[in-house]
Amino acid sequence: MPKAYVGIDLGTTNTACAIAELHDDGTMECRQIPLQQLGADAKGVAYHHDKTLPSVVWLGDGNQVYTGTFCRDHADLISQHAGSKVIHGIKSELANRHWKLLHNGQKYGPAEISSCILRTAWATLLMHLQSHQLALEAIIITIPASFSSTMRRETLRAADMAGLPMEKVSLLDEPIAAVFSSYETAAEPFPNIHTGEPIVVFDMGGGTVDVTALTIQPDERAVRIHSTSRYNQVAGDDLDLEIAAYLWRRLACDPAKLTRVSSIALLRAGEAVKRAVSERIGRPPSGDTQAVREECRKHHLAVGVKIDLSPDFEGIRTLAVPIADILDILRPFLDKNERASNHGRNIFTPILEALDRGGLSPIQIKQVYLAGGGAYFNPVYLELGAFFNSALSPLAGPEYAVSHGAAKFAALSQCSRPSRRQAAYRRSRDSATCAAYCGRKSRSSRAASVAAMATALMLKGSVTARTGSSACG
Ligand SMILES: Nc1ncnc2c1ncn2[C@@H]1O[C@H](COP(=O)(O)OP(=O)(O)OP(=O)(O)O)[C@@H](O)[C@H]1O
Ligand SMILES: [Mg+2]
Repeated sequence: MPKAYVGIDLGTTNTACAIAELHDDGTMECRQIPLQQLGADAKGVAYHHDKTLPSVVWLGDGNQVYTGTFCRDHADLISQHAGSKVIHGIKSELANRHWKLLHNGQKYGPAEISSCILRTAWATLLMHLQSHQLALEAIIITIPASFSSTMRRETLRAADMAGLPMEKVSLLDEPIAAVFSSYETAAEPFPNIHTGEPIVVFDMGGGTVDVTALTIQPDERAVRIHSTSRYNQVAGDDLDLEIAAYLWRRLACDPAKLTRVSSIALLRAGEAVKRAVSERIGRPPSGDTQAVREECRKHHLAVGVKIDLSPDFEGIRTLAVPIADILDILRPFLDKNERASNHGRNIFTPILEALDRGGLSPIQIKQVYLAGGGAYFNPVYLELGAFFNSALSPLAGPEYAVSHGAAKFAALSQCSRPSRRQAAYRRSRDSATCAAYCGRKSRSSRAASVAAMATALMLKGSVTARTGSSACG
């Protein structure tokens, strides 16, 4: 029976899962698992499978709980029903003691809401394991490297409430998982990493931008984490919000009539504009954002958007949105020189923080790995290209890279039987996670060679984990 290793990327905006299968002959296969969730199409509302599960929870007026696409796409409609509540972005609230919700006489905190998302994911994973006759060995849930100990503990509590077998559950920092998504074979673990010099993982999701500087030292068979940025809450969702506010100004509607329902619709329009702008500007070879902005202004380039704010406002409105306007309003978030004027709410805050903490300068960074859905946003790509002046490597399927890498990491770690150190970690649940791999080749068999390929070390204390170097061997 093949052994299965599960990676779960419990994201602020999207959740994704992968399973790595380790066969008796030592070969490993890793695939994304489409997650079953409620969706709607022309035929009506039905369950379907999708590689991402939007991290949106709908608490119905009975005891029903739904998660996923339908809840995200129809949050405005659902919110109109008395007794229904829709919750987005709960991951950002995991350390917020004051976040509480009373629904149908039941108390919910951030961990309870997160557990609803994990329960949906786990249901599909269990079905997959059973139908493919796989033996579950380990589950890794990923977290931002900058998560506080409280947020780590709450993530584990959510997993427990969702019914995951906790003796098999570990946490792993997202940047490590992202890097492992590009792991290939024991003979050539990271064919795309040609340097023992520092690389940067830039993971821009919906809720956070996580930046980690690390070195992969094939000779020492270790991933060395130099530094990680602090926890921050500036990412894709903030850009959507900024664009939504711009659209609202353009519509010039009566502000007194703006409700939660129309706000949700505006946010969705904001995200649609963001994606359309990104697609339209592409990745020009010159990579000069100032030049791109001026070019768009000169040629009056615009994207169209349809906005439906019913029932608060009648009629569907269509706007032509000049791309230069959008690039202007996003400058405070994306342009390094605007950091101070935007009180640090800028993608370069975590970048400079990680470099500074690691005592590194941009010139020392030989490769930048891009993970998360934000890696698709071309204005970010241009800014990073200009700053680092080094190869930008968007990971294949950046929105799945973290779950994919976590599953591979789990398989390589063979961490089904937790070491005493990991068990202690789970008991105390207040440690940071740090990872290392070892790539010693075993003489006995290829399976053994894969088995020895990696291991996870749980180091107690976030300071050690963030600045230390770990190796096993
Ligand atoms: N093609 C695209 N162009 C621009 N932005 C995109 C594109 N695709 C996805 N995004 C953005 O990526 C973000 C979601 O990315 P991702 O799924 O990696 O987030 P997450 O993992 O849930 O969040 P976090 O890592 O912060 O917890 C959203 O803000 C979304 O708008
Ligand atoms: Mg993410």
